[in-house]
Amino acid sequence: MADHSHSHNHDQFHGHSHGHGHGHGHSHAHGNGETQNREYFNQQASSYDSKHEKTLDQLIEEIRKRIDFIGVEWADEESSDEEEEGEKDDTKEKREVRLLDYACGTGLVSRALAPYTTQCVGVDLSENMVATYNARAANQGLTPEEMHAHVGNLCLPTTSPSYSTQSQLFSSPDFYRFDLAAICLGFHHFDDPPLAARRLAERLKPGSGVLMILDFLPHEKMDASHPASDTVIHHGFSKEHIQKIFEDAGVGQDFGFEELAVVFNKATETRGEMRRKIFMARGTRKAE
Ligand SMILES: C[S@@+](CC[C@H](N)C(=O)[O-])C[C@H]1O[C@@H](n2cnc3c(N)ncnc32)[C@H](O)[C@@H]1O
Repeated sequence: MADHSHSHNHDQFHGHSHGHGHGHGHSHAHGNGETQNREYFNQQASSYDSKHEKTLDQLIEEIRKRIDFIGVEWADEESSDEEEEGEKDDTKEKREVRLLDYACGTGLVSRALAPYTTQCVGVDLSENMVATYNARAANQGLTPEEMHAHVGNLCLPTTSPSYSTQSQLFSSPDFYRFDLAAICLGFHHFDDPPLAARRLAERLKPGSGVLMILDFLPHEKMDASHPASDTVIHHGFSKEHIQKIFEDAGVGQDFGFEELAVVFNKATETRGEMRRKIFMARGTRKAE
């Protein structure tokens, strides 16, 4: 498996750029993001978890700290209240809470939220990321009904030659009526983030389903020679930009936006230290 990191002191989380001038926090869509992302993340999959272990653990902690902020009616809420009151009834069914972990990678969001959900469904366009996700889920003793990922791209424009095959693959009711759809560190890789938000919004329960996005706040453009540079289509997002994307996708209800304590710091050869701040945004799908 190729390792491009030998000549660059950074990784796919940071230090990426197209090296040509689009506006701060915005950039053009290449239209080739799918191929570049699949290739790059297929190469990264086997080393992703070990390479980023500390950061991934921090992100899991940050996500769990914001369980209330995310605002889903979680599966374990009732039972934990009952436990406190000493009247737990084991015969009572757990509330069903289904997560769509989009651009799931090796399953960071699924692992963070598994204790609060009853089903985690991952989708990613990298076969190797999906294989790693499923191997980890199986190693944890989880059944495919509890945690399983699929190879796919739900963000293709209708004009794409693969659009109809992909929509067929994900047309069953198993891929709809989610309580939560989450994208962690995927949004800046997408050709068309507003389209991605609309596509995920459609798969949420009307009136209660929540879209959650974790990504970078606007940041400087960086070294174009980085192997991930072609996978990064957007240089972060402002609160206003994200709120508009949520509203336009019909998931702007009770919009919330918080900056996370995790900061990516990395020294580069040419620019000294780089900092990447991360936000979490949430919004509820409006009732039909
Ligand atoms: C930086 S990783 C983040 C993975 C994981 N969510 C995490 O936080 O660790 C970005 C992921 O987005 C996936 N990806 C990029 N573009 C995608 C698209 N259009 N549809 C689905 N997945 C995509 C990549 O294959 C990669 O696994």
